[in-house]
Amino acid sequence: MLAIRRAFLLGLVLCSVCRFLAGHKSLNFLLFRKTVTGYNRKYVSLYEAAISEDRTTINFTLNLARNITADIWLRATMGQRVSKGGDSYRDVFTYNVNLCKVMGRGKGNSLINFWLNNIMRQSNMPRSCPLKEGNYYMCNIRSEKETIPRFIRSGSFRIDSNVYVRDWNGDNLTETTFYMDIQMK
Ligand SMILES: *[C@@H]1O[C@H](CO)[C@@H](O)[C@H](O)[C@H]1NC(C)=O
Ligand SMILES: *[C@@H]1O[C@H](CO)[C@@H](O)[C@H](O)[C@H]1NC(C)=O
Ligand SMILES: *[C@@H]1O[C@H](CO)[C@@H](O)[C@H](O)[C@H]1NC(C)=O
Repeated sequence: MLAIRRAFLLGLVLCSVCRFLAGHKSLNFLLFRKTVTGYNRKYVSLYEAAISEDRTTINFTLNLARNITADIWLRATMGQRVSKGGDSYRDVFTYNVNLCKVMGRGKGNSLINFWLNNIMRQSNMPRSCPLKEGNYYMCNIRSEKETIPRFIRSGSFRIDSNVYVRDWNGDNLTETTFYMDIQMK
């Protein structure tokens, strides 16, 4: 009974995701302004992000110093800037997801899958866990219309994100803050 209810709930969630992806309002452009990165030297020896000159793409470099044998999670909070030129942001949504579970599933219409496919397209990251120690890159990551929730309104945004290992005391591997300008059609 519980399983059925859970499946039903999951269905509802997936349907609402489809609905907001199927809407007419779509992305006009997304331009990155700045990224601020940090990493935990216990697990990572280098983590960098570089924005292209035209601000449309980002490259990431990640050198993992250890095998990560537990599941990795992503927590991300997106906030919209309240006033032009100001420094305060109002949270739009928060996401907390087990990346190992999502990568394993591979296909799907969810926002996180669109972003994962987008990120993996020009990357040597494995598509499954565990992540082995080594040097990884993710190149030319750009937004596409499917990757922005339809309820987003044009403006300036900040995404605070961290990749962490829940089973290892919630230790962070990396922390990234993205600043960007989004224009919806
Ligand atoms: C990102 O990586 C691509 C492919 O390696 C490279 O051509 C491009 O110059 C890099 N961009 C930046 C901003 O480093
Ligand atoms: C990391 O994993 C690889 C492949 O599974 C293994 O060969 C290597 O010994 C591991 N490294 C450490 C430090 O455990
Ligand atoms: C991980 O990073 C987040 C965001 O920067 C921070 O709030 C949190 O305290 C960090 N967690 C640990 C265990 O250091």
